[in-house]
Amino acid sequence: MNELMRRILFLPEQASGYARNVDHLHFFVILTTMVASVGVFGTALYFFVRYRRRSDTDVTPHVTPRAIHEVLFIGVPLSFFLLWFAIGFPQFASLQTPPKDAMDVYVQGKKWMWKFAYPGGPNAVDTLRVPAGRPVRLLITSRDVIHSFFVPALRVKQDALPGRYTQTWFNADRPGRYEIFCAEFCGIGHSAMLGELVVMPAEEFDGWIADQRKGLARAQDAAPARGEPVMTASNIVDEGQKVAAEQGCLKCHSVDGSQHIGPTWLNLYLRREKLKDGRTIVADEGYLTKSMMDPAADIVAGYQNVMPTFQGKLAPPEAAAVVEYIKSLRTSAGPSGPSEPP
Ligand code: CUA
Repeated sequence: MNELMRRILFLPEQASGYARNVDHLHFFVILTTMVASVGVFGTALYFFVRYRRRSDTDVTPHVTPRAIHEVLFIGVPLSFFLLWFAIGFPQFASLQTPPKDAMDVYVQGKKWMWKFAYPGGPNAVDTLRVPAGRPVRLLITSRDVIHSFFVPALRVKQDALPGRYTQTWFNADRPGRYEIFCAEFCGIGHSAMLGELVVMPAEEFDGWIADQRKGLARAQDAAPARGEPVMTASNIVDEGQKVAAEQGCLKCHSVDGSQHIGPTWLNLYLRREKLKDGRTIVADEGYLTKSMMDPAADIVAGYQNVMPTFQGKLAPPEAAAVVEYIKSLRTSAGPSGPSEPP
């Protein structure tokens, strides 16, 4: 039934439960609107014939509708709209709330390629490998212009914005290879900005990433401090600490909870912060990276707007490393209360 429906609508293959849910709703909407339009056009056709002008003196009698008809004409379509909303909204909402145990992957759009970085390594270009049946959260940004990360088989599309992190997640349940597109016109190479999503059986993926990390660790032992920093599981936090020190972050942010020019990084991750404009945010990866790139946008209440932007100064793997460093500065699990301003 599912397969038949997919073929009738010429939809791409479905690589996740979410994709199947989206298609079911899509099919339901198409089916109800088609039945409704057949009804509307059929009625119109009947009226054209039944009430056609038969002579020059013919006058159509005035018709006063009955209240029950008006209620039906408005109520039936409305109930379908509400039903679509009731089915669609939970799906939309689930896309905004990745599960807590999701594996993070940093995605960077760049004219005209996709770069992927796994916290703890490795990095990859244009090929995103993920384990089947496990949730994966993507933290997406762009190096230059707006791109859009689009995997038709997952029915997932998310804009990649320069200087800002957006997120989405998926749980691909069928091993296989699926296309990744850029869905936002971004210049001459837009149509060639293609990638591949490789969904591997979970154990195979575990083996692959362990091998990659071993390789990275060896590469780093062999050639320390040459070119781009090599990220490994053991060193990403150290790398973040190094970047934070080099970039001067630690001149304003303490890591021991003491008060300083900016909010302390101790227990900052997942902390609820009240902002100057009255909003409350949770300092997740998206907020932390956004506040590096656009610090003026979300000033924490009680602090001055003195932080410079790191847009263009921090490469995404560096920004990711700083975030991992901040994440490591936790004395307890779970959200913590707001920090005291100086
Ligand atoms: Cu990148 Cu279009």
